[in-house]
Amino acid sequence: MHHPGLGSFPATRLRRNRQHPWLRAIVAETVLTPADLLWPLFVHDHATAVPIAAMPGVERLPIDGVVRAAAEAARLGIPAIALFPATDPQRKTADGAHAVDPENLVCRTVRAVRRETGDAVGIVCDVALDPYTTHGHDGLLVDGRIVNDETVEVLCRQSLTLAEAGCHVVAPSDMMDGRVGAIRTALDAAGRHDVGILSYAAKYASAFYGPFRDAVGSNASLGTAAKLGVSDKKTYQMDTANTLESLREVALDIAEGADMVMVKPAGTALDIIHRVKTTFGMPTLAYQVSGEYAMIRAAAANGWLDGDKAALESVLVIKRAGADAVLTYFAPQLARALTARG
Ligand code: PBG
Repeated sequence: MHHPGLGSFPATRLRRNRQHPWLRAIVAETVLTPADLLWPLFVHDHATAVPIAAMPGVERLPIDGVVRAAAEAARLGIPAIALFPATDPQRKTADGAHAVDPENLVCRTVRAVRRETGDAVGIVCDVALDPYTTHGHDGLLVDGRIVNDETVEVLCRQSLTLAEAGCHVVAPSDMMDGRVGAIRTALDAAGRHDVGILSYAAKYASAFYGPFRDAVGSNASLGTAAKLGVSDKKTYQMDTANTLESLREVALDIAEGADMVMVKPAGTALDIIHRVKTTFGMPTLAYQVSGEYAMIRAAAANGWLDGDKAALESVLVIKRAGADAVLTYFAPQLARALTARG
């Protein structure tokens, strides 16, 4: 058809493929499934679950609550959980020694989950000292500095402790130099070739970790650190300004033996996720962090946006950017929605 004055209409009409849900399903380039989700869980040493104010819908769970959540993950097709302990302040010390205690909360939790779900659900454990240090830092603090190599030694022992408890994957989130290689060597020397390493390879110093630090109680600790002059994590976590440095971080972690690499946060680093995936072709995960979750939940609570749709969209774009899987507090809600739709 030709309309004088309007020029000729295009032969290629991209709207043609958007007309029906079935057609949109055929041409969809990115498909999110429950298998793309990892579920971060907070555990504490109390008998009941306690809500986390800045993360509506997320609770600190007792150990048996985590065991039930793991079983639910299995039912929902969520492949793995990631565990974060809210440590009793009495257990915290300047050197974070409780991190290597086989009877600590996270080790007891791992054993309980493993007894119940065996290998059906992956158990990923954070490796860093922040749940255990009075100053809330991920590493050892000596004379106002986070000391690298001494910290790495403790992280190796922490990784072995977690491996012995039965976790499948250790996830160093501390950003010390050389820790992936050292942890791999330590695990191998102990005969634990089976335990994988998911490295938080490109982890930015981000304001979006705020609610998490409330959840595990490290914010208060970092307040203590402020008095010592080191209130932020900028001497070890990355500067948000940098891209090329993230590629160097990832390259090093791969060379040191990482099985999977992670970019964190996710929503403010979609470009980084894309670069990392296309550059290295490694299994690449992304962590949609507590602040990203909190923003969506807060806006939804105010009726400013549709929380379910925003959650789905926010995670789908992380996969579209190149992530193979996403750690997200929306995991169970999304898995349920995706299963119901399918
Ligand atoms: C601690 C750790 C943090 C997160 C995961 N592991 C916080 C931090 O680095 O201060 C943040 C996760 C989130 O915000 O959801 N090493």
